[in-house]
Amino acid sequence: MIRKIAVVGAGTMGHGIAEVAALSGFEVALIDVSWDFLNRAKERITDSLNKLAEKKQINDPNAVLQKIEFNTSYDIAKDADFAIEAVPEKLELKKTVFKTLDSVMGSHAILATNTSSIPISDIAEATGRKQKVIGMHFFNPPVIMKLVEVIPSKYTDQDTVDKTVELAKKMNKIPVSLKYEIPGFVSNRIFIRLLQEACREVEDKEATIEEVDSTARNKLKLPMGLFELADYVGLDVVVDIWNVLTTRGTPDVKCSMFKAKVEEKNLGVKSGKGFYAYPAPGKYAKV
Ligand code: 3HC
Repeated sequence: MIRKIAVVGAGTMGHGIAEVAALSGFEVALIDVSWDFLNRAKERITDSLNKLAEKKQINDPNAVLQKIEFNTSYDIAKDADFAIEAVPEKLELKKTVFKTLDSVMGSHAILATNTSSIPISDIAEATGRKQKVIGMHFFNPPVIMKLVEVIPSKYTDQDTVDKTVELAKKMNKIPVSLKYEIPGFVSNRIFIRLLQEACREVEDKEATIEEVDSTARNKLKLPMGLFELADYVGLDVVVDIWNVLTTRGTPDVKCSMFKAKVEEKNLGVKSGKGFYAYPAPGKYAKV
C-alpha cells in the first residue's frame, strides 16, 4: 500500500513528478539541496496547478499543493513508501542519494530512479535492497506526458515491477514495462537516432534546422520540431544520453552541434538559448 511518495530533486522533472503524485492523491515529500531550488519548484507547481484549475481540471489548487512537504532534509522521507529520484545524470550523485534513501526509509519501501540513461543496476548497487530498486522514467512535462517507462535492473524482483506499474496507472499514466534495462530504454533510443540523423542532415547542409523541424512537425506529426524538443529536454541532458548510448553500443554519427552548444553553455530552454532563443531562462515559448 503506497500512501506517501518521496521525490528527490526539485528541478524540471522532480517538481513535475511531485505535482503528478500530489494530483493523484498521494502525500509527497519533495527534497532538494537548497531552499532556492525548493521555492522555485513551489512556484512552478503553483503555476501549473493554477493552469489546471483555470481549465476546470481540478477544483482546489491549494489543496493539492498542501499535499507536498518541501525540505532540504531527508527526514521527511522517513515514512514514505516509495521514492523517485530525479537529480542530475551523474552516477556518483545518484548513488549518494540512493544510499541516503536506503538508510532513512523503511525496509518495505521501493526506490525508483527517473534516470534517462544510467544503468539501474549500477544505482541499485549503492543500496542494501537491490531487489527493490527500479527505473521509473517520466517525460517532460510530467503533468502532461502520459508515458512512463518502467525498467527493472538485473536485481529487481517481480513484486517491485508490479507495484511500480500499478503506481504509474494510479498516477493516470500509461506504463511501458521493459523486460530488462536496454541502454536508452525504448524512447531515448529512438529519440537519439532521430537527432543523429537530423544533425547529420544539417551539418552536411542537406537541410536547415528550421526545415528539419518543420518536417518533424508537419510530416512526422510530432508536437515539436526535433531541435526544438532537444532544447526543451536540455542539450546537456541530450549529450549525456547520446554519450551513454554510443559508449554502450549504439552506432555514432559525426555531429558536433550538440556538444558545441553545451560548451557555449547554451543548454536550450533552461538557459534561455539553444538552437532557438526563448523569452527567459526556463521559460518555453513555441518557436
Ligand atoms: N502544467 C499544466 N498544464 C500545462 C503544462 C504544465 N506544466 N505545460 C503545458 N500545459 C498545457 C497548456 O496549458 C496547454 O493547455 P490547453 O491546450 O488546454 O490550452 C497545453 O498543455 C498545451 O500547451 P501549450 O499550448 O503551451 O503548448 P503546446 O501545444 O506546444 O504543448 C507541450 C506543449 C505539451 C510541451 C507539447 O509541445 C509537447 O507534447 N511537446 C513534446 C514534449 C515531449 O516529447 N516530451 C518528452 C521529452 S523526452 C523526455 O522528457 C525524456 C528524457 O529522458 C529526455
